[in-house]
Amino acid sequence: MILEETYTLANGVKIPKVAFGTWQITGDNVIQAVQDAIEVGYRFIDTAQSYGNETEVAEGVRKSGISRDEMFIGSKVDASLKTYGGVAKSIDGSLKKMGLDYLDQMIIHSPEPWNDFRNPENHYYEGNREAWRALEDACRAGKIRVIGVSNFEIDDLKNIQDSCTIQPMVNQILCHIGHVQKSVLDYCRESTIQVEGYSPIAHGQAKNLQDVNTIAQKYGVSVPQLCICYLVQLGVVPIPKASSMEHIRANADIDFEISAEDMAVLDAVPPLDNYGEQNYYAPYAKANL
Ligand SMILES: NC(=O)c1ccc[n+]([C@@H]2O[C@H](COP(=O)([O-])OP(=O)(O)OC[C@H]3O[C@@H](n4cnc5c(N)ncnc54)[C@H](OP(=O)(O)O)[C@@H]3O)[C@@H](O)[C@H]2O)c1
Repeated sequence: MILEETYTLANGVKIPKVAFGTWQITGDNVIQAVQDAIEVGYRFIDTAQSYGNETEVAEGVRKSGISRDEMFIGSKVDASLKTYGGVAKSIDGSLKKMGLDYLDQMIIHSPEPWNDFRNPENHYYEGNREAWRALEDACRAGKIRVIGVSNFEIDDLKNIQDSCTIQPMVNQILCHIGHVQKSVLDYCRESTIQVEGYSPIAHGQAKNLQDVNTIAQKYGVSVPQLCICYLVQLGVVPIPKASSMEHIRANADIDFEISAEDMAVLDAVPPLDNYGEQNYYAPYAKANL
């Protein structure tokens, strides 16, 4: 079963091949969703300081009764924090909110604050180096096992790689059929940085992508299942979000293989120009620049 499989990161830590996303699930709903996901077998739960649900995500893990060391819990440093002190304090804040001694993964949510995302004139290089130093120190102090980044482009990665004492181990990027960011993916592969793919179902809009319905039907699977399997076959860790037990279970049921020929068709799917009601969200709004 895919949920039991792991990749080994550059520092030897094992990371599950599929994660569970919790963006836009809050309160009792996220406590329940996390318990459901753990019951199905997910072991990697993805949250973020900005999701406002770290406390409830940790509550869901505790309520599931699973032992802490079987879990891989990841959060993200708020995109606005670009100072050593601000990031260090926020890491301690996340640990306190979650009642945890350590996080399995902590990543910089974005190279730029959201309101300045992909500003061609300001890459926040210095701020990201500061943020990275705070992550490195927290890693050395045993507060985090895996440190990494999110939404980083190649230049953003090089900025960290050229000055760091611990290399980034993961980069979590927008990655779905029609938008795989191949150059970033290739660069990360060469640099032994594991890519995690967020919005693997294109934030629920994958059904509108060319060819995916036809290919999903051919394999007798749903569009979300095809999307998740596609990322697994690319070696990317998909992070599907789902609210119901039915969806949570279905998304882990991907015991089929997409042929090389169909992978090539899916690789060539043109980008999506509409992410639905969340279209204004910076990474979607700027996805096709
Ligand atoms: N690093 C970043 O900047 C960043 C940005 C965005 C997201 N993320 C992470 O990635 C996770 C996933 O991304 P996402 O939340 O944007 O979207 P997604 O996983 O691409 O899609 C979620 C949508 O697909 C639906 N869905 C899921 N499984 C389904 C199934 N089997 N059948 C039918 N519909 C299904 C969900 O509906 P239901 O809820 O009704 O099940 C929801 O509407 C987030 O939760 C978050 O953890 C990270």
